[in-house]
Amino acid sequence: MPRMTEPRPSSPALRRETDFSVRPLARADCRRIAEIHVSARPGDVLPDLGVAFLDTLYGRLLGRPGVWAFVGESSGRVVGFVLGCADTGATMRAVAIGGCLPLAWHTLAGCARRPRLAWHALETLRYPARRHAPGPELMVVAVEPDWQGCGVGSRLIATFSERLRLQGCSTYHVAVKSKNDTAARFYGRLGFRVVQRLAMYGEPWDLYEYRLTSHQPSVRPAVGVSP
Ligand SMILES: CC(C)(COP(=O)(O)OP(=O)(O)OC[C@H]1O[C@@H](n2cnc3c(N)ncnc32)[C@H](O)[C@@H]1OP(=O)(O)O)[C@@H](O)C(=O)NCCC(=O)NCCS
Repeated sequence: MPRMTEPRPSSPALRRETDFSVRPLARADCRRIAEIHVSARPGDVLPDLGVAFLDTLYGRLLGRPGVWAFVGESSGRVVGFVLGCADTGATMRAVAIGGCLPLAWHTLAGCARRPRLAWHALETLRYPARRHAPGPELMVVAVEPDWQGCGVGSRLIATFSERLRLQGCSTYHVAVKSKNDTAARFYGRLGFRVVQRLAMYGEPWDLYEYRLTSHQPSVRPAVGVSP
């Protein structure tokens, strides 16, 4: 069903829900989602480590137990993605051990370009221990700038949420920079609530919680997300 709302004036075209579909992430998508992450969040720590770092990271995460990821696709082109996991700390440890050398190499290359990234990378490793709320987490959702405001992000979140609900989860969390007003509006509209404030990378962050049991999503998930 097309949305009843009028497209934003900034929308590049009159795109509708029927113009894209959502499916599970495949290995061949990793470089593309790395590029989307870099273009959607320039200046953030992980995107600053570069496309090669993110491509390697996503390749290592894909297929790992307790990692769920979906892409939005239009005419065969990936235009957005969502990725999360059951236990961020355990997943980060497993990826760091299993992908130690290539990830360390790309991290060093990133730090050579921007030395401050070394501290930020260490802070990222300490992040899971600082959350008050354990359990599943949405690590990143990003949509190609040209496709933002067309419903891709909402459908990705609905699909990710349905996957976790089928898994038996009751809540999950996502950490977002407090100054990311677009994300704050986006998550607020979808029913997420701030449950913790954190300081990371010298800036305030908000930890949002989404209750899978009590909130009725207004956007339908994609089909075929069952375990
Ligand atoms: C946050 C983000 C993922 C949202 O994705 P998106 O595809 O733009 O999200 P949607 O299109 O579903 O919703 C965005 C807005 O467009 C509106 N919208 C959605 N479909 C629409 C349509 N067909 N016509 C008009 N408006 C529409 C929604 O109502 C929503 O309004 P809001 O500003 O009140 O939230 C995207 O902006 C992004 O990639 N940002 C950079 C990365 C980031 O910050 N990620 C979050 C931290 S992990």
